[in-house]
Amino acid sequence: MSVGLNRLDDDHKSLIAIINRLADGVDGAQTDGVVQQSLTALLRYTEYHFGREEAVLRAVGYDHLSHHREEHKRFIQELQELRADFVQLDDSTQKQRLLDFLKEWLTHHILIEDMAYKERVRGDKQAARAAEQFSSLDIWTSRIAG
Ligand SMILES: [Fe+2]
Ligand SMILES: [Fe+2]
Repeated sequence: MSVGLNRLDDDHKSLIAIINRLADGVDGAQTDGVVQQSLTALLRYTEYHFGREEAVLRAVGYDHLSHHREEHKRFIQELQELRADFVQLDDSTQKQRLLDFLKEWLTHHILIEDMAYKERVRGDKQAARAAEQFSSLDIWTSRIAG
């Protein structure tokens, strides 16, 4: 499921891998503390990826950027709430359900929303440059800019 730019495809693979690892942790013997740390890692990586993707879409003047950013923002909020609520859930079935939600949301977002920009970024030099030049510091800049 390529979105037309290697750097973004790699991000997507990493995100799915982090979620799969989280699911293994809930099934296995990992403590809530460890799982919560992994949720924090997922949150950070998601913010990083969304920042990069938005920089790419800005670079190509993507028409649906503001809608796309709203979707990203909503997911970050849900992820923050989920992380906060996680330890209060008492059984692993409920925890597993939350992780399933994360996976479904992300897969759906990549397949529908991200795939929609594919033709705009594929083979575009500005898009590739924006993806490579993006650094985690830019997340703070984009937050300040709103
Ligand atoms: Fe994405
Ligand atoms: Fe996206």
